[in-house]
Amino acid sequence: MRKMNRDSDTPELAADGARRSAGVLITGAGGEVGHGLIKALHARGHRQIVALDLRELPAEMRSCCREVFVGDICDAALLGRMMARYEITEVYHLAALLSTRSEFVPETAHNVNVDGTIHLLRLAHEQARSHGHTVKFIYPSSVAAYGLPDLETKQQAGAVHEDQHLRPTTMYGCNKLSCEHLGRYYARHYRQLAQDAVEGLLDFRCVRYPGLISSETLPSGGTSDFGPEMVHAAAAGRAYQCFVRPDTRIPFMMMPKAIEATLQLAAAPAGQLTRCVYNISSFSASAGEIAELVREHFPDAEIEFVPDVQRQQIVDSWPADVDCSQAQRDWGFEPGAGMREAFGETLIPAIRARYGGAGASVMV
Ligand code: SER
Repeated sequence: MRKMNRDSDTPELAADGARRSAGVLITGAGGEVGHGLIKALHARGHRQIVALDLRELPAEMRSCCREVFVGDICDAALLGRMMARYEITEVYHLAALLSTRSEFVPETAHNVNVDGTIHLLRLAHEQARSHGHTVKFIYPSSVAAYGLPDLETKQQAGAVHEDQHLRPTTMYGCNKLSCEHLGRYYARHYRQLAQDAVEGLLDFRCVRYPGLISSETLPSGGTSDFGPEMVHAAAAGRAYQCFVRPDTRIPFMMMPKAIEATLQLAAAPAGQLTRCVYNISSFSASAGEIAELVREHFPDAEIEFVPDVQRQQIVDSWPADVDCSQAQRDWGFEPGAGMREAFGETLIPAIRARYGGAGASVMV
């Protein structure tokens, strides 16, 4: 394999002869993570954000972007048009169908979650080849990539390491695990037998997110949603039926911390990274513990536990906690505040402000 000159500065022309502008591509830009990421990148001075989502973005997010493309990640012609206009240097590929929704349409989930990813990996590779710079490809995987066979194993496993218990039971988990491997393949071994193969075109980095809790948005179609749903319902004065048992435990993290960690991994010097995939999490909490804390802040909260057998099975197959020591060692990840502190100091004040006024709404 030939090695690529990472410092090369090849000028690149668009199809019409004009120079292409540099761009940071964010797919799934209108989702929960996209929302936080676009705001954070814009606040840090990025003015080259190219966003893609199935739906038009709200005005305040559009104004943070250089250009917004509305369409499907599987639309090859659309992606081709984007690549013709921009010299993409970094990709945050967030577009995905989450775990609960994916179980209803597994083949569609595979199509969006895996085919969409492989298509983008190939395009990112082509881009790097054409403009002569390594393209960074940041991919959010999930705690759903794990699969523990039963509750006893889950209890004994404690905080799982990145390479343990990788037998996901959901389509979403299978998709995420596949894409972790595909990313590693495209970064390190793509077309390894071809005469013209070039090394180092793609720099693939991946975090496995735990359940994420945001004050600004609500997830849709996920199975860790019981955490954020419980808090938002209490703040909005709505009764909530929790779809898992009170003893159900998984790792969680607040959205701003997840965004910060994602950007921290993206910025880490390549030489410090010893692997492509890293666990991140702030705390491990049970549904019952979250409910208790929510009741401390909202004494009138009506929370009832009405487990849904199938969704319960999914959460039972996810680890109670994840071992983040590799991320801490390689790129300085810090788990941040524990649950009590994170709720008390940031989440609850922000969520109160959000629902404080009559008719306050959240983006879902
Ligand atoms: N939050 C995701 C889901 O529940 C898991 O990463 O699908």
